[in-house]
Amino acid sequence: MSADDSVILETRELTKAFGGLVAVNTVSVTVRKGEPHAIIGPNGAGKSTFVNLLTGHLPPSSGRVLFRGRDITGLPTHRISRLGIGRSYQKTNIFPTFSVFENCRLAAQSRLSTSMRFFRPAVTLAEVNRQAEQAMEQAGLAARRDRTAGTMSYGEQRQLEIAMVLATRPELLVLDEPLAGMGKEESERMVALLKGLAAQYSLVLVEHDMDAVFSLAATLTVMVNGTLLESGPVEQIRASQAVQDAYLGDGAEAY
Ligand SMILES: Nc1ncnc2c1ncn2[C@@H]1O[C@H](COP(=O)(O)OP(=O)(O)OP(=O)(O)O)[C@@H](O)[C@H]1O
Ligand SMILES: [Mg+2]
Repeated sequence: MSADDSVILETRELTKAFGGLVAVNTVSVTVRKGEPHAIIGPNGAGKSTFVNLLTGHLPPSSGRVLFRGRDITGLPTHRISRLGIGRSYQKTNIFPTFSVFENCRLAAQSRLSTSMRFFRPAVTLAEVNRQAEQAMEQAGLAARRDRTAGTMSYGEQRQLEIAMVLATRPELLVLDEPLAGMGKEESERMVALLKGLAAQYSLVLVEHDMDAVFSLAATLTVMVNGTLLESGPVEQIRASQAVQDAYLGDGAEAY
């Protein structure tokens, strides 16, 4: 157990091997409450695999994950979601034939335990609807409530993904490349949305867009080849020679 209340998430020597490939190699990271934390690194560095280990989408080969001081290593995704970690995916993951509201309602429902669904159907339905409405509002999609999700612009579909995460009532948001594939205007809208959320939730963000990273994050973790190169306050990482050489220096624009 971590005695430090300011820590919301901690990994200890977290490792994931796919056969001979060690995608995440003894990575120890500390995420503090209310301190937006970005994970950066070149393609194939292990960022998404790391996220999948945090959220139970993959079991680690070794190492631990602690959420609010509690060991959650190896718990299934739905248990981790119910404990308060909400995550979005690098590739859009919505139900395209359902309305925006229905997508949010399904997400809100997924947070309920089966016993709650069984015992208090009327109360929980009202609560689920309220959570779905609130999530749409927070993600700037209230005016799109009844739109079929798949007919919206790509940027709005990505906003919907964020709304679906919010509908699960998370304490910590884990977002894997929320700006992926977006144009300039869509990116700006998403960054503004994420800034607002970073004031209300703890945030772990995987992102290649360095302008967005520097405007959103307080802390950066740099991964290269599955290993943690450096982790610390943004200014420390910006000034780091090792990071410059490996990632932020010449050619960083390519990421
Ligand atoms: N399920 C899997 N089975 C085997 N290898 C995998 C699997 N998932 C990821 N890998 C490999 O692990 C390494 C890390 O991949 P990962 O997707 O975590 O990188 P990433 O940092 O998220 O990259 P990107 O920036 O391109 O999204 C890559 O070499 C990838 O091919
Ligand atoms: Mg990835």
